[in-house]
Amino acid sequence: MFTATTTAPVNIACIKYWGKRDTKLILPTNSSLSVTLDQDHLRSTTTSRADPTFTKDRLWLNGVEEEIKPVGRMATCIAEMKRLRKELVEKDSSAPPLSTYFVHIASFNNFPTAAGLASSASGFAALTASLAALYELPSAPTELSLIARQGSGSACRSLLGGFVAWNAGTLDSGLDSHAVQIAPETHWPDIHALICVVSDTKKGTSSTSGMQRTVETSPLLQHRIKHVVPQRMQDISAAILAKDFDRFAEITMADSNQFHAVCLDTSPPIFYMNDVSRAIIAVIEEYNRVGLLPENGGKRKAAYTYDAGPNAVIYAPAAHIKEIISMIVHFFPQQETFNDPFGLFGAAGVTAA
Ligand code: PMV
Repeated sequence: MFTATTTAPVNIACIKYWGKRDTKLILPTNSSLSVTLDQDHLRSTTTSRADPTFTKDRLWLNGVEEEIKPVGRMATCIAEMKRLRKELVEKDSSAPPLSTYFVHIASFNNFPTAAGLASSASGFAALTASLAALYELPSAPTELSLIARQGSGSACRSLLGGFVAWNAGTLDSGLDSHAVQIAPETHWPDIHALICVVSDTKKGTSSTSGMQRTVETSPLLQHRIKHVVPQRMQDISAAILAKDFDRFAEITMADSNQFHAVCLDTSPPIFYMNDVSRAIIAVIEEYNRVGLLPENGGKRKAAYTYDAGPNAVIYAPAAHIKEIISMIVHFFPQQETFNDPFGLFGAAGVTAA
């Protein structure tokens, strides 16, 4: 029995990936950029085993067996990793022929799936990393990101820590559509992420079908791809390198809002945020309006961002986190199930990671 276990954290995008130009290879219509969250709080842990006695590839998610669909994304990732192992064995005949054995894969999230946080990014990143460890592949994270991307696009960014860009690339092969680190987590440890769980219900429109509908129907998406995202990628990278939180926050919020505008511009429209999500935006906007007054320093102190669901992620420098938590708890008291600022408690609550 050959076995390997690895972990991968969740990442939350500041410049959103929304739209595929190739649905099979999962090539995006635009580049994106995210922050990989701290491993200690939100992560997937995956164990892969290969054994000559196994009779088929099998997968368990949080202890429940899931079907591996023959031409699905999971099967694609496993097949790609086996191909790399085969190449390695062809070069080194002393290496056991693990690619010819079936694999059993078990993956766990240390956060409740019911919390409504996307687990596919950390899940596919951990899967790819664990198969790379099992097969003893010498691949760098950026190389592995090419494979994790084919599981779930955003997963490619979870293979690297800190601030990570997924370059859309231009090649039809997808070989230049990979993740690269803009800055490691040590570059700007002052930035914290506060996760506000607004609802634990499963999103109505999956990212796969939502993206397809947006690509087919939204004129605003075309404008975003050509005229907005390229400049924003440059600007936010510069803000990160300069540790300019005010600019980072301005771009992050603008991009979240444009992503949701693009969803509204889709036919039929897609609504991911709810009234609570919008109320949190209002609170943070007001907080920043006050922060931007010259007598208060003239800078933004927090940035909200929303993925394909109603839950808010608020980025802020450590110095403001306590104040933001008390503000959120003040305005949304019925939502409070808050015990420990670094834990994730239950489905409806405000928690920090
Ligand atoms: O990788 P997917 O298919 O789960 O898509 C993720 C899309 C967003 O979370 C909305 C944006 C992003 O860049 O993560």
